[in-house]
Amino acid sequence: MNIDQLKKTSSEALEAAKTEQDLEKWRIAYLGKKGKISQLAKTLQTLPPQKRPQTGRQLNQLKKLILVEFEKKKRKLNLTLEQKKWLDPTLPAILPPIGHLHPITLTIREIVSIFEGIGYQRVSYPEVEWDYFAFEALNMPKDHPARDEWETFFVSDKIVLTPHTSSGQVREMLSQKPPIRMLNIAKCYRRQQDVSHVPMFFQFEGLFIDRQASIANLKGTLDYFTTCFFGPKRITRIRPYHFRFTEPSFEVDVSCGVCNGHGCKLCKAGWLELGGAGMVHPKVLKAGRIDSSQYTGFAFGWGVERVCMMKTNISDIRLFYQNDIRFLEQF
Ligand code: FA5
Repeated sequence: MNIDQLKKTSSEALEAAKTEQDLEKWRIAYLGKKGKISQLAKTLQTLPPQKRPQTGRQLNQLKKLILVEFEKKKRKLNLTLEQKKWLDPTLPAILPPIGHLHPITLTIREIVSIFEGIGYQRVSYPEVEWDYFAFEALNMPKDHPARDEWETFFVSDKIVLTPHTSSGQVREMLSQKPPIRMLNIAKCYRRQQDVSHVPMFFQFEGLFIDRQASIANLKGTLDYFTTCFFGPKRITRIRPYHFRFTEPSFEVDVSCGVCNGHGCKLCKAGWLELGGAGMVHPKVLKAGRIDSSQYTGFAFGWGVERVCMMKTNISDIRLFYQNDIRFLEQF
């Protein structure tokens, strides 16, 4: 058999192979130690010396070609056999992985639905805000030391990245007449970063203004939110505090969900700090063109990440913004 004949018969035989066994037989017959290629190679010695190099080269090329075809056929055969073995058209299709909303978006939606239940309307105000609404209108004139607590990013001396949602209070008062039930949820920015602080975070702020709004109403609203959000066993307490834009001002704590208020490693004394609240200061009402002899109001402002962490026992706020799919998939 010469090289051209071998080429023809080998590809025909390869084409005819239908099973793994056929393929193995073919391999032994053509590429094996005593196979047709080896046999033809042995006949090289019988050729005249001047013909040997060229025929040797042709034989080598044929061997390479045959090997490539063999590998191709093997892949094709495996694939067909696999498909025959596994193809079950009655099985449901494998769906691509589907993502879900970010835990903070889910928390915001829950907060909105809780407050909508008692008549609060969600609003949003600019993230890049006038210093006036963020500070001055809230009874913190220029150079007042209380401003330091907000560790603000200044865009210019009159424009800031809003450091808290309280900047929406006077905007809301100017945009409508009492009674007001505002829920302002927005991104806030501060120069802070540690386990419980990030430079960009969300706050939600409630503002209620009516003729006889009282601390009792404030406390009732806080309890209502806590029960809906954290569960029926959780209660709130208010402690005296100081904000320039509320008088009196409070820090709001919620009873610890791990020990039910008895004291544990997480909370120390049974309470976890939720955020600030208070009765709207008359000077703020005045800035909002509301008559403080007729109307009173209360406000509260808390971190969205903070309430989510307290509900799910997450210990590092930065996890929310690292985009680690292993963390996000747990919600
Ligand atoms: C305020 O920002 C007040 N505006 C709250 C307020 C509103 C008081 C209305 C009275 C009436 P404070 O700086 O404590 O307060 O922030 C409130 C909450 O925002 C904190 O309890 C915390 O949950 C969250 N927070 C503040 N800074 C950060 C930060 N860097 N990262 C994440 N959350 C933060």
